[in-house]
Amino acid sequence: MTAKIVIRGGKKLSGTVTVRGAKNSVLELIPATLLTDEKVILRNVPNLKDIETVCELMKYFGTEINWDKENHTLELQTKVLKSFVAPYEIVKTMRASIYVLGALLGRTGQAQVSFPGGCVLGSRPIDVHLKAMGALGASIKIIHGDIVANAPAVDGTDGVQRLVGAHMKLLIPYGNGTSHGGTVNAILAATLARGKTTIEYASIEPEVDDLINMLNLMGAKITRAKNADEVEMLQIEGVGKLRGCEFSVMPDRIEAVSYAIVGAINGGAIRIENTDATKYEIVLQKLKDAGVAFEVSDNGRTLTVDGERTKLRGTDVETWQYPGFPTDALPQFMTLLSLADGKSRVKENVTSDRFQCVPELRRMGAIADVDEKNPNVMLFTGVADLSSTNVMAADLRSGFALVTAGLFANHGGTTEVLRAYHIFRGYESFVESLRGLGADIEKTFAEE
Ligand code: EPU
Repeated sequence: MTAKIVIRGGKKLSGTVTVRGAKNSVLELIPATLLTDEKVILRNVPNLKDIETVCELMKYFGTEINWDKENHTLELQTKVLKSFVAPYEIVKTMRASIYVLGALLGRTGQAQVSFPGGCVLGSRPIDVHLKAMGALGASIKIIHGDIVANAPAVDGTDGVQRLVGAHMKLLIPYGNGTSHGGTVNAILAATLARGKTTIEYASIEPEVDDLINMLNLMGAKITRAKNADEVEMLQIEGVGKLRGCEFSVMPDRIEAVSYAIVGAINGGAIRIENTDATKYEIVLQKLKDAGVAFEVSDNGRTLTVDGERTKLRGTDVETWQYPGFPTDALPQFMTLLSLADGKSRVKENVTSDRFQCVPELRRMGAIADVDEKNPNVMLFTGVADLSSTNVMAADLRSGFALVTAGLFANHGGTTEVLRAYHIFRGYESFVESLRGLGADIEKTFAEE
């Protein structure tokens, strides 16, 4: 039995949604707490399956965890590190487990982390992560499916192992872009390393800044800079010890954008609170290009989308690393473009398998064709309506995109989104939130 979402679409939606803390930020912040033996208190933590998974992993290392879900507060403390092994059972379920590699190496100079395989978004290699660890002096071997990493021994200290600061370039091979996760692992490993580290081509995704802000609060010395060619860099002065802290997680930009798209296609006015609109300006620009009427207020903390004044028109979108259009918002945007008057062109540059919702959107009546000249380009011709049917979520974002389509589809039928467990990884209480806006939606279970 797996979760499915049943929607009777065609309702005008309006009301308020409160955005939670950023999933992808918390997934970095939790492993970062391994770098201190003191307590770290995280506020604005979303209640999500992925956060539960990383907490399960932390228990292997001896981390004491107190999660007050009602108040969205998570306390973690690893007084004594009991193990430096991250087993396959957990790593296989969540790629972000790879962040413990840098954190364990940073704290003890040793780590054994199961090598993550492919995932629903394609092969997703980790060569950049391993390159960063190697640059900091770690020896890396792959043994029985595990990454076994060791920092060099420090002379005259009876076998104490510690990484050594270094200069590195973290470009993704063939893609020419920066790696979000590779940068995170490099930061986690370099914070307690001996000496200075410089990372050229560091990711500037806002969640990485959230990590840097928390680590600096804990006593790390991490600054952003640019080299002579204007390339983004990080400079990290290794410190001997970090202290505990209390830190409030940044709002989830993808959750905000997802609800904005729901508002844009469903007629009413949706007010999105506790957001930070400065972190997704390119998406707002693209919403504007697509004819979406919205207003940003309260210093960017509130976004109100007015579906009544919206008249969707086709536009072109191309993903890229921040500050480019986020790949994690593309599936939801494709639902919107399915309904936008005229033609739209969508190009995915960051990850493979981002078009997994497209065959399902087609089942609902969307017109979308792969560009014959480029498989990373999808061409949409807008339709006035979508019709309800059963569809399958292949990943988190495509799942939300299909729910969004189901909310719009009418003709009196129901849309069933199967394999909805993907969506619960990244959207806290989304069924309740959408019901609060007036949607006819429920979670139930399906035999598969
Ligand atoms: N890549 C490599 N080698 C590497 C790392 C990445 O070739 O060592 C390539 C892969 O093709 C990969 C692409 O570069 O698909 C982007 O990788 P990146 O390292 O930038 O992303 P990530 O750290 O694996 C995070 C988010 C993703 C989000 C991307 C891009 C987390 C836990 N995950 O992934 O979020 O799509 O950055 O912003 O933070 C999601 O939330 O649904 C999600 C998939």
